This record gives sequence, structure tokens and C-alpha cells, in this order.
Amino acid sequence: MFISFEGIDGSGKSVQARLCVDYLAARFKTVHCFDPGHTVIGNAVRNILLNREHGEMNPRTELLLYAAARSQLVTEVILPVLKEGGVVVSDRFYDSTTAYQGYGRELPLDLIRRLNRIGAHELVPDLTFIIDTDPEIAAGRIGDADRLESESAAFKMRVRNGYRRIAEQEAERCRLINGNRSIAEIHAEIRSIIDKKLAKMPDKRAKGFSETNPDGTEY
Ligand SMILES: Nc1ncnc2c1ncn2[C@@H]1O[C@H](COP(=O)(O)OP(=O)(O)OP(=O)(O)O)[C@@H](O)[C@H]1O
Ligand SMILES: [Mg+2]
Repeated sequence: MFISFEGIDGSGKSVQARLCVDYLAARFKTVHCFDPGHTVIGNAVRNILLNREHGEMNPRTELLLYAAARSQLVTEVILPVLKEGGVVVSDRFYDSTTAYQGYGRELPLDLIRRLNRIGAHELVPDLTFIIDTDPEIAAGRIGDADRLESESAAFKMRVRNGYRRIAEQEAERCRLINGNRSIAEIHAEIRSIIDKKLAKMPDKRAKGFSETNPDGTEY
């Protein structure tokens, strides 16, 4: 199973992704990754993207760099784990590109979709949690600012609304989660959605998880 966490900066993605990993790791081989980053190449690309001195970066250059970092993450980390029947929890994935570069920077959405497919090697998450948090609440949660975080409130609003559109358009895969609540409340909702999804996973996938209980029975 491949799960991604999405939302504006400070919405609470990383905290929820970590809790989700802790929950799943007790039952499955679970890998926690970050997009962009995680691989050596991905981290090098991430450093280019987040460098405050790169204010002149062309929006298409930015788009291509995110896709490049993701391609490396997918081939080097995500696909091998999924092939073994493990679980991958990714802190951001291609919906971030749609929300930030598409809705935020207003690049053509069809271009974004094509590039997302290429960068992700056609991989689609089984489940995506979009943590929907008011921008003021989210901003209050984060102390420091990187290049994106210091941008305008209007940009943040476009990104947030973009995420909401994605959730509407891909309702089967994406769950919009009210991020204004406590960490524990949000985690409880996410856990219950994951449990339901696991119960519905096709047999082929379920058998891929080779873990057994101490008494030898399969999970
Ligand atoms: N539901 C919540 N209520 C209160 N504080 C929270 C909540 N969720 C996260 N936080 C706190 O807010 C801060 C930002 O959370 P987190 O790092 O998970 O956000 P993020 O979406 O990953 O942000 P970024 O996009 O900047 O990585 C952290 O200090 C975290 O402990
Ligand atoms: Mg984070």
C-alpha cells in the first residue's frame, strides 16, 4: 500500500505521517519517505528548490526539478518496497506539484498532469490524506520560513483551494481531513480510514505482506 500526506506548509502533514508510520510499522514493513528529498539526488534537487537565493527560478524549471526528484524517489525507494509487499508513507507526492505549481503558480494543469505521470512513473497512491488547515493556524504552527513559506497569503489561499479541488476530483483516492483539530483527533480519523482501506485491499496485495503473528497465523 502506498499512502501520501498532503497539505499547505504547517498543516500537520509530517506529524500525521509519522504517527501513521508508527501505526503501520507494527504490522508491515513500512518505509517513511519525503518528496522532494530522501535520496541523495533528491536531496541535492531539494536544496536547489529551497534556496532563497534562487528567487529568479522559472516556474517550469521548478516544475521539472520536482518531477526529477520524484522520479528518483519512486525508482530508488518506493517501487522496490511496494514490490516486496511493504507499505510506503510519503510526506508529499505529486498532488503537491498540482497544488503549488498548478493552482498556486497557475501553470497549465494539463502540463502538470503529464509531468506528474512521468515523474511518478505512472504510480498513483492508494490513499492520499489532504490535511486541510486554515492558513493562519498553519502559519502559527511553523516558526521558520523557507522560500515558499515567505510568499503571499493569496498564493497560500490558491494552494489550499487547489488541494480542495484535487480532493473533490479524486474523491476515491483523496480524503480531505480537517486539520484544525488536535493531533490525536486527526490521527484517530486517519487510522480508521486506513483500517477500512486495508480490509478492502485485494487478496493479491494482502498476501504480499508476509508477516505472521507470534502464533504463526497470518495477519
Ligand atoms: N493538529 C495540530 N495541532 C497543533 N499543533 C500541531 C498540529 N499538527 C501539527 N502541529 C505542530 O505544528 C508544527 C507543524 O506541523 P508539521 O511539521 O506536521 O506540518 P507540515 O505540514 O509537515 O509542515 P511543512 O509543510 O512545513 O513541512 C509542528 O510543530 C507540529 O508539532
Ligand atoms: Mg513537514
